[in-house]
This record gives sequence, structure tokens and C-alpha cells, in this order.
Amino acid sequence: MPIEEKTVAATFAKMSEKLRDIVPAEELRYKAELAFEINQLKREKNAVILGHNYMEPALYCSVPDYVGDSLELSRQAATTDKDVIVFCGVRFMGETAKILCPDKTVLVPSPKAGCSLAESITAAEVRKLKKQYPGVPVVTYVNTYADVKAESDICCTSGNASAVVESLNTDTVLFIPDEYMAGNIARETGMNVIFPIRNPRDLQKRQADLACTIIGWKGRCEVHEQFTLQDINKIRKQFPDAVILAHPECRPEVVAASDFSGSTSGMIRYVRDHAASRYLLLTECSMADNIAAENRDIRMLRSLCIRCPHMQEITLEMTRDALLRNQFQIEVPEPIRVRAKRAVDRMLEIRGEGGAA
Ligand code: 13P
Ligand code: SF4
Repeated sequence: MPIEEKTVAATFAKMSEKLRDIVPAEELRYKAELAFEINQLKREKNAVILGHNYMEPALYCSVPDYVGDSLELSRQAATTDKDVIVFCGVRFMGETAKILCPDKTVLVPSPKAGCSLAESITAAEVRKLKKQYPGVPVVTYVNTYADVKAESDICCTSGNASAVVESLNTDTVLFIPDEYMAGNIARETGMNVIFPIRNPRDLQKRQADLACTIIGWKGRCEVHEQFTLQDINKIRKQFPDAVILAHPECRPEVVAASDFSGSTSGMIRYVRDHAASRYLLLTECSMADNIAAENRDIRMLRSLCIRCPHMQEITLEMTRDALLRNQFQIEVPEPIRVRAKRAVDRMLEIRGEGGAA
């Protein structure tokens, strides 16, 4: 997977095979030097680099040993025999790797790579929800911090969310923190979504609502919440042949109006396996470049291009510095890690979209 050539010139040649239509040659030459240095450091430090599908094209195509969505990268982290895991993704992803591999050094190259979903709920809020809905299982989207996972029964990713909810075989689940993903799961599973009530006097009336119900939380991804049904309608009018793919963090009406919805890797596979000539991706913008680099004969519409400010923090420079300075180390307190691991392990047992358990 990584481009590990013997000279900078060879690294540049390999990178430009994929990226010559996407990244200007001068920028690519500079990035090839960085990639070459990173691949050398990686060997010296006995490190593995995991790259999320949202990484910018030059990084995505050059240094990760594995690229993928959150579920695939969690699985890779769980099985690595390297001493150091460099997670080119955001903090919650690094935390998941640390939860699974407490003896490894886990580095996320920027301390600023957060996530609006992970910030949207605290462990104290989950404890309050559990008091309000005693006995109702808590399904937690993996885009959360370790202390929130520790309060949960099971985690899920965009690749197995509906399968996780269905695996519980209960009428009611608490699904946190993504409001829109809860709506999308409800559509797939035939459940309905409600949100926690504020007035305790309404509690009795609420009991009647609880058949086949997802109790959600109002967290949102700051990138995916920006795509609207009007956007889709305009694109369909101008480009009737475009196939529209939407991540399940998008609004339910956006997902319903798209042609396919799945995890980031699910969307990559969809493009690989179908023969449409033009695609629009309703997800983080870099992924369109990464798909275009792999599929030179298709056209990716570049309207509605929104980058995730957190993923954007991870650059080749920061990745090199992470390896050079052993930064920024992810730590999870042991009592929290042990409880969070139970929820993550249960998630890893459930099949994802790709079929792998
Ligand atoms: P995936 O698990 O589908 O890669 O999604 C992660 C994410 O943060 C999407 O915004
Ligand atoms: Fe979080 Fe959204 Fe960025 Fe994904 S794209 S890391 S959900 S803020």
C-alpha cells in the first residue's frame, strides 16, 4: 500500500502516476520528499501508519500502510505487531486504537484534530440518560471519546450501525450522539426516533412512545449537516446522469434522496463496483480526490466541496514530526479503557457493510 521507493525521485514518480491530474507537480515534488522521509522514519521506529479515507490525496497515496474507514482501521489497529501506531485521522480514532492496543504507542499527528460529534456529548450526560431510561441499551457511535464509550453497551461505526442496533433485539435503544445517523438507522430498521424530554411531567406520556424506538441525541457532524435536499435537487437538474452518494451522517432526507449511503469505504467500493460516468459525493471533500486518483475514467463533481477542519489538521509535515518527536501521544486512563474496550470489542464482532466480521 505505501509508496516506499528507494529514492525521492522514485517516490515522486510513483505518486505522480496517481496524482498528476490532481496535485500540481511542484507541490507533489515537495510532498514526495516528505513522504520519502516519513517512510524511512516509519521503518526506523517500527511504526505502522493508518490513514483515514479523508486524508488529503498526497498523504493518502504515499505513507499509510492501511487506508480505510473507522471500522476497518480499528480492525487493523487491533491486529498490528508494530510498536507505534501513527493514526492519520482524528483524536477519537487514535483513542479507539489505544483502547484496543494499550501497550502500543499511539500517535495522532495534531492535537487539534477533534470532531464536532465527539464534542457533542459528555460521559456525565450519558449517565443522566441511563438514569432517565433505565435498562435501555446504549449504542454509541464510534465518533465519541473514550469516557463516553465506557458508559456504553456497544459501539458502532457508519459501516455497521443498523446491524449493531438490530443485533440487540430490543424494542428501544439509546443511540448517541448523531441525531441524523439515528434518523437514518430508524429508516433502515423501521424504528422511530425521539429525543430525551426535558420536563419530567411528560415522562408518563413518553412511556407510550417507547415501542420500537431509538432515543437519539442532538449531535451533528459539522461537515455533513451542511448538505441539503435543495443541493441534491439542483445537482440532479443540471447533471441528471450523476450518481449521488451520501454518508449516513447526512440529514435523513438527504440520504433518502441519494442513490447510495454507506461508510466512507462503502462509498469507495460503490464507485469501484459500478459503471456510472459521473459521481457526486456528499461527504468530506478530499475523498472525491482520492477516488478520482484510483478511477481515472470517472468524473467527480466538485460542487459542494467541504473539508473537515479536524481531518485537515493532519498533514505530511505533522506526520513526519509525529514520528520524529513521538507526538502527540494518546493516553486513556486504564479503568475507562477497560470499560470502553468491552463496547468496542462487541462492535468488532458485528459484520460491517463489506461483510467482514
Ligand atoms: P467512516 O467510519 O465512514 O470512515 O466515517 C468517519 C467519519 O468521521 C465520517 O465523518
Ligand atoms: Fe467529525 Fe464530521 Fe470531521 Fe468526521 S467529518 S471527523 S464526523 S467533524
